[in-house]
Amino acid sequence: MAVETIAVGAEGVYRPQHDSWLLIDALVRSEVVAGRQVVDLCAGSGVVAVAAAHLGASSVLALDISPNAVRCTQANAIAAQVEVEARLGSWVQALERDPFDIVVCNPPYVPVGPDTEAGSIPSAGPMASWDGGPDGRLVLDPLCASAGTLLADGGCLFLVQSEFADIERSLTMLRDGGLDAGICAGQRIPFGPVLRSQAGWLRHAGLLEAGRTDEEIVVIRADRR
Ligand SMILES: C[S@@+](CC[C@H](N)C(=O)[O-])C[C@H]1O[C@@H](n2cnc3c(N)ncnc32)[C@H](O)[C@@H]1O
Repeated sequence: MAVETIAVGAEGVYRPQHDSWLLIDALVRSEVVAGRQVVDLCAGSGVVAVAAAHLGASSVLALDISPNAVRCTQANAIAAQVEVEARLGSWVQALERDPFDIVVCNPPYVPVGPDTEAGSIPSAGPMASWDGGPDGRLVLDPLCASAGTLLADGGCLFLVQSEFADIERSLTMLRDGGLDAGICAGQRIPFGPVLRSQAGWLRHAGLLEAGRTDEEIVVIRADRR
């Protein structure tokens, strides 16, 4: 599947980037999606949800707090001729549904300093798509705490995040929730405009040594056995 061809961006919607492609690649390699019920918790353009549908998911629910993202997901699903139920709302709405076989998420995970203003990095898409709060864990913490509830028996979570948002903490939380968690993919990428803007904050937090201009992103896979 040529995944690069399935995403169409839109004004005010996170444009698929390295993390999107790394997550999709992990899904493709896992070979666990066909015939399974999938939820994409932070859908954005819908690129991951559409990829899951292409991989033969029996159903795909896509959630996002941005109306533009929901419209974009719907448009991309129609363009790709696949079924995706795109809904406006926080990822926590997934907890109100029956558990899912596959949970995918590319959440906002960048640690963001207090002086950062919305709209200050126009090329980076909406701030809500990357602003993970002061430690990057605004969504990661509650999501890792709830993952066991979101997953059906035999299900698995695929979650992408940066080294700067404490990968070990995600792994520990997922394991504490009874899941079998590990890193299934990783990539070192150069800083984009968002990380460049937060370099001072990351140094202040002791997360970034002077002169470094790249970050490791990983996909965490957590299985409910
Ligand atoms: C990094 S983008 C990922 C988009 C897409 N999945 C991708 O991989 O390209 C994160 C998305 O999460 C959405 N988002 C932020 N907080 C959310 C929340 N609490 N619940 C659901 N979506 C949220 C943002 O609007 C944004 O579209």
